Amino acid sequence: MLKPLIEPFSVVIGGPTGIKPYKVKLVRRLSDLQDFFYNKKIVEEKLSKGENPTVYEVYEVPQKPVSRHLSLAATIIFPGKVGDEYYFTKGHFHEKEDASEVYIGLEGEGIILMQSRSGEVRHLKIEPNVAVYIPPGFAHRTINVGSSKLVFLAIYPSDAGHDYGSIVETGFAKLVLEREGRPVVVDNPTA
Ligand SMILES: [Fe+2]
Repeated sequence: MLKPLIEPFSVVIGGPTGIKPYKVKLVRRLSDLQDFFYNKKIVEEKLSKGENPTVYEVYEVPQKPVSRHLSLAATIIFPGKVGDEYYFTKGHFHEKEDASEVYIGLEGEGIILMQSRSGEVRHLKIEPNVAVYIPPGFAHRTINVGSSKLVFLAIYPSDAGHDYGSIVETGFAKLVLEREGRPVVVDNPTA
């Protein structure tokens, strides 16, 4: 029989950090996402002018990376664009191929892009009162397509791991761009 390793606990959902209390805070600025936006020229121009806005923040309650635990994290993606491309998270595959994940929308409106290793792409809306299931084997990136911050809660196996490298190498096959004030999912010309 498994001996309980940690005490049960609860967190409060909502507020400026999305989750409280949290253990780890990550901040991703434009400079951290230089290799991820498709229009690298605009990124370089902004950075050369000293503009390095925060694109997103993650507030985590991680557990030990062992198979029986789940980790919690709230992500806040600020509203904004690089050219016509909306702010997004880097996106990752899970290092552990059989790890799935659930996202629950808390504030704002977004799109989750999902892409398998063989290039199949899916996209779903994320917004308050919507939960999205990300099956094993799909890389996932979240895009804030609204004019206010996008906040969502993620629940994932604590040993899932993050593989960002594959996304940098191949890029997502689709991009979410603004066209006439609305988000559209289009083919990535650089992928
Ligand atoms: Fe994930």
